[in-house]
Amino acid sequence: MIKYLGSKRVLAPALGRAVAALPVTTVCDLFAGTTRIGQELRRSGVTVHSNDTATYSEALGQAYIAADPETDRARVREVIAHLMSLPGYDGYFTETFCRRARYVQPHNGRRIDAMRDEIDRIDLSPVERGLVLTSLLEAADRVDSTCGLQMAFVKQWSPRSHRDIALREPEPVPGPAGTVTRLDANALAPTLDGVELAYLDPPYNQHSYFSNYHVWETLVRRDAPETYGIACKRVDCQTTKSPYNGRRSAWPALAALVENLRVPWLIVSFSDDGYHDLDELQALLGEGRHVGRVDVDFPRYVGARIGIHNGNGEKVGSVGRLRNSETLFIAGPDARLVRRAAAAAARATGPTGATPTGSAPAAGRGRSARRSGTPTAAGTRPGPG
Ligand SMILES: C[S@@+](CC[C@H](N)C(=O)[O-])C[C@H]1O[C@@H](n2cnc3c(N)ncnc32)[C@H](O)[C@@H]1O
Repeated sequence: MIKYLGSKRVLAPALGRAVAALPVTTVCDLFAGTTRIGQELRRSGVTVHSNDTATYSEALGQAYIAADPETDRARVREVIAHLMSLPGYDGYFTETFCRRARYVQPHNGRRIDAMRDEIDRIDLSPVERGLVLTSLLEAADRVDSTCGLQMAFVKQWSPRSHRDIALREPEPVPGPAGTVTRLDANALAPTLDGVELAYLDPPYNQHSYFSNYHVWETLVRRDAPETYGIACKRVDCQTTKSPYNGRRSAWPALAALVENLRVPWLIVSFSDDGYHDLDELQALLGEGRHVGRVDVDFPRYVGARIGIHNGNGEKVGSVGRLRNSETLFIAGPDARLVRRAAAAAARATGPTGATPTGSAPAAGRGRSARRSGTPTAAGTRPGPG
């Protein structure tokens, strides 16, 4: 499992149960990131469309959402074995991310240079290419020297970074094959005819995924950009901005997205760490839909727990809050089904190790239920409009 800020690994079973409780067979994951949620839904028999603006997410989507039993896995294994046999050499990746920055150690960076150059010389279908790039991305992640973000370094080379990089074939995901795009979610939203449920997991604060995962972006694109700063970020990190990262632009972007989605069902996850007031978000989703709400408490990403360091190994960030709460909103046209899905999600949070803040569904209005301390898997009626 690659390390990803805001990844819904812990919430995946709850989301899977919520979707299974609804009458849907097609889902669009508009902010797919690692594609973990799409994988969970695919496994449960749902056809997934996976979308994200990140190039690495598109590669992961080809590997885990679009690949199907027709995919020539023998060829993919052959290509991976060939890549593993290549001797390393110094190239852009080694110079930039092992010498000037410290993402992986040079003995692995040299092999990454050789493997990544070779991938572009091999004739591969989009799915085969996605599988091979995913294999390289995941292998690099297993020997990196970060605490989950690619803009800060751990104090010394991490223990795992001493190991030799080793590519593995990405595991096939059972279930119907889906599709993948790399589009702005707000541009995609009005085109989603025929999709029954949209899952929204947008960035929820100022932390830009494009900057935090710039090494993966450069590794997949292989465009050798000019860089700046101690982490050697791509210069276009200074100009590539998501409206969801702006304090003032995030709410209008989300409101426009919800308004333009013509799908009957919505599931939205949001963190208590984010910009938006969750009650206001619930009201937005409640315009024309019934809304259920499940609050889940779990530990924060590792960087928050160990602090961050600069290139000299000096601590430059402090240890932050150790726990987060994520809220799942389930919205749709049928109050009974919304309550059923919220209850299923709340029940599923137990075995994951997360601590649900409420486990039993309660009828009534979610906002007042929360204030009065009643169970937090709750249903609301559609608001006006
Ligand atoms: C909270 S993460 C999603 C995590 C994902 N659910 C997972 O489990 O891995 C938010 C994602 O939104 C993507 N993103 C940011 N702005 C976007 C936009 N305007 N349209 C589509 N994707 C966007 C980021 O690249 C990032 O992968």
